[in-house]
Amino acid sequence: MDYTRIFLISLVGILSRVYMTETADIILEAEDMLGDVKHITDRSKASGAKTIHLYGGETIHTEICLIQEVDILEVGIGYTNDGGSDLIEVKISEVVYGHVLTDVNLDKGNGWNDVSYENALFRAFSLVGRKQLAIVIAESDKYGVEIDYIKIKLNDSQVTEDSFLCRVFCFEDIVYNSTLEYTTKGRAEQRSSITTCAEEDNVNIPIFHDNPRKFTITAQMPKYQTFKNNRHADWSQCEFNTEYWKFTDINFLQNQFMTWQNDKLNLTMSKLSPFHSHGTRKIAQLDFDFELDGPSIGSTESEAGTLLVIKDLQFQGQFVLRYQYFNRYNVWSQSETKIVKEGETEVEFVSPDFSFREGSGNKIRIKVFSDQKSTSGIKIGTMYLRVRWLKPGKTTILFQDQTTVIEGVDMDMWWRTNETMNVILTNKKESFTNVDFLRIYQRVPWTDASLSQTFVLYQDGNVRLLPLTPHGLDWIPFGSSVLIGQTDLHSTRPSAPISHLHIDPFTLNMKIFYKDGGTIKLDIKSEGTRTSLMVSESHFTSDLNVSPFVTFRSMFVENGNGDVDHLSIDSEGAVPIIGSWKFLHGNYFAFHRKCISKHNTLSPDIIIRIN
Ligand SMILES: *[C@@H]1O[C@H](CO)[C@@H](O)[C@H](O)[C@H]1NC(C)=O
Ligand SMILES: *[C@@H]1O[C@H](CO)[C@@H](O)[C@H](O)[C@H]1NC(C)=O
Ligand SMILES: *[C@@H]1O[C@H](CO)[C@@H](O)[C@H](O)[C@H]1NC(C)=O
Ligand SMILES: *[C@@H]1O[C@H](CO)[C@@H](O)[C@H](O)[C@H]1NC(C)=O
Repeated sequence: MDYTRIFLISLVGILSRVYMTETADIILEAEDMLGDVKHITDRSKASGAKTIHLYGGETIHTEICLIQEVDILEVGIGYTNDGGSDLIEVKISEVVYGHVLTDVNLDKGNGWNDVSYENALFRAFSLVGRKQLAIVIAESDKYGVEIDYIKIKLNDSQVTEDSFLCRVFCFEDIVYNSTLEYTTKGRAEQRSSITTCAEEDNVNIPIFHDNPRKFTITAQMPKYQTFKNNRHADWSQCEFNTEYWKFTDINFLQNQFMTWQNDKLNLTMSKLSPFHSHGTRKIAQLDFDFELDGPSIGSTESEAGTLLVIKDLQFQGQFVLRYQYFNRYNVWSQSETKIVKEGETEVEFVSPDFSFREGSGNKIRIKVFSDQKSTSGIKIGTMYLRVRWLKPGKTTILFQDQTTVIEGVDMDMWWRTNETMNVILTNKKESFTNVDFLRIYQRVPWTDASLSQTFVLYQDGNVRLLPLTPHGLDWIPFGSSVLIGQTDLHSTRPSAPISHLHIDPFTLNMKIFYKDGGTIKLDIKSEGTRTSLMVSESHFTSDLNVSPFVTFRSMFVENGNGDVDHLSIDSEGAVPIIGSWKFLHGNYFAFHRKCISKHNTLSPDIIIRIN
């Protein structure tokens, strides 16, 4: 549950906009299919470098699943042939939908590596459900034919290879439905981006309403049935650089100066008049000019202290490095010298928090000294700048009894660097400062003494909610979150900063005071399989048409890999969470899953009801 990292990474996706292609191409390798697959042949030019050799009367087949009705626009066959023509049929659950007549290729056996492709379909058709797709060799010459792959083009980009091959389990009978009528409707806006990274909060759906005085946010167990509780992070498809910048293989050849430039960094290497330090001779000066991201886009790069890591040094004798940085007040730091002895290969230099500045104008200077006669052979293998090691948050227990624990956490480098909340316990008028987030644990009724985390509130307005841990489990993961409070729609990292809050630890009633003057009352109730937040007496200060009052954040890569996959509004049925919709109107917004997700399998569905 490392909030900072999740949001750092959410910045990576900001540049990619929602762009849905209209069709999907699924490629099935013949060698992965079932049936008459005994003659698998190596062919260097084939897809997957393999084909299946088949003769007249033989068939290969596979099971396919279409969760919703789709148009099959093309079923193409990649094949190789040498000899006379062959007739290949495409059958789906025993119905013939098309065929390919292979080209005659009289190449004395040399034609088997040349892949041809042809669409087999007589015409496009619609399909839904679980079916058998078969490729049948209806007629062939005595040498047969080789099938390399089958390509299926369909009209729905939500269909993935996993779902097409029946590896994703979606339930069409999962319904969220509210038939209550209200005079004014709210509006959900699509502001999500697409991602392949399961740890990026790419789903971003602000909700607007003219008068959201009362609303309820409920977290409940997903409606699909599963006994899996996957809850590990999956960074496998993520692009995440811990380095702000990095150089490799810096050599110090005689009289060779270099400059190196990209959009965030200039490096100049210069050779200066001989000068001695610790019995060594100066060989070069490295000047780094670089940009850092900062608070205006929700990043702490420019605020947190840094580590300059210099690794894989190659030299003889003694090596001396002298480090200086140019701070945000335009002053060079005192230089720091490190002597590296033969056999050592790594050095680090530290700059404290708030040394650098957002944007350009950051500088680091390194003077390099060595007592080696010739500079050839001296090398810095790797050199990079990264954030300093962050410490775990400092937790203070604000309240504790048999049923409830309330903790305040002071994070090392909270992204809103100098902002914290004051938390006032109303029973004792006790006040706690420096809280970056608050979390509440409640006793799990079906255990002797276990507590489960049900509520987390961050200083930037983000809320994470969980039902009580279900019977028989130790814990379930958070997934989606809801930002409560008015945000600037156009800020890179939306937030509704909180100045202080009052909480009654016995009733768990809260009053939250935002920095912009807004206030809300909030009651938490955890019962059975759901935790609800009842928000009332809310008072917002910005134009409610321009600033959303809540924002839903989550992750969706594809069906089967998402903390949410559908949104149901009022009694309108479900739409894909990331789809071509731009605005949807209603008072009841159910953010839920129809497909069993491998990521945070038991994280809750979230329902926002305005009333
Ligand atoms: C694809 O075609 C089917 C059947 O015609 C239709 O119901 C469905 O809405 C289409 N899907 C998309 C994403 O256009
Ligand atoms: C790098 O140098 C160029 C040319 O001198 C300058 O325009 C640019 O702003 C510099 N970039 C950084 C990140 O300092
Ligand atoms: C936060 O505090 C540090 C240290 O006092 C200061 O240097 C920095 O400018 C402050 N940042 C903001 C955004 O006020
Ligand atoms: C929701 O319930 C109403 C009333 O029972 C019904 O008419 C409507 O079709 C339902 N909608 C969905 C999506 O099931």
